[in-house]
Amino acid sequence: MNNEKITILDHPLLKHKISMLRDKNTGTNEFRKIVSEIAMLMGYEAFRDLPTENVTIETPIETTEAPVLAGRKMAVVPILRAGLGMVDGILDLVPTAKVGHIGLYRDEETHEPHEYYCKLPTPISERTIVVTDPMLATGGSASAAINFIKQHGGKNIKFLCIIAAPEGLERLAKDHPDIQIYVAQLDRELNENAYICPGLGDAGDRIFGTK
Ligand code: PRP
Ligand code: URA
Repeated sequence: MNNEKITILDHPLLKHKISMLRDKNTGTNEFRKIVSEIAMLMGYEAFRDLPTENVTIETPIETTEAPVLAGRKMAVVPILRAGLGMVDGILDLVPTAKVGHIGLYRDEETHEPHEYYCKLPTPISERTIVVTDPMLATGGSASAAINFIKQHGGKNIKFLCIIAAPEGLERLAKDHPDIQIYVAQLDRELNENAYICPGLGDAGDRIFGTK
């Protein structure tokens, strides 16, 4: 694994919020709100390396040179459905970001990802691309989504997930050693149905209140 490119976040606020997500008694409304808050906290950490440039600003006291986010624009690309839950938290931080979508679902038997939708802002090659999905289980969906983005010319890619299984993290880092991966919580393992343990269940169903 390319550890330099992997960041496992460690913060009491994240831990607290993830514990709330894990609780099966947390309802849809609260679950959705917490996912968004976690995405914002993750973005704060993941965007540390965004370049800045100085502009001239008049404060009420004097004229000064002050840093603002520079040149490179951002695209947030949620993996549908569950990744959608993280978009608003990122947009709260960077409201000028464009939003693309990649639709993938996992076959319930084989656990292989199937694409049903892909629409990305163009040109994508100059943008910092922030791929969101709360769950990294086998890693199949994230790896396929990043393949699509690269096929469309995407280069500078950050993947943000709330909970990862060791198996998925290893696979994603192996398939895409060039991307930066941010994980808020590394869980124990996958079960026989490729669900993350202890995990939080089906993130899409819990965000959208389905099933
Ligand atoms: C979930 C999750 C990831 C994927 C992770 O989506 O949001 O996209 O599974 O599993 P993997 O790492 O083994 O590929 P799901 O396919 O259930 O679709 P949904 O978001 O529409 O519920
Ligand atoms: N997808 C989910 O939503 N949860 C898991 O635990 C695994 C895949």
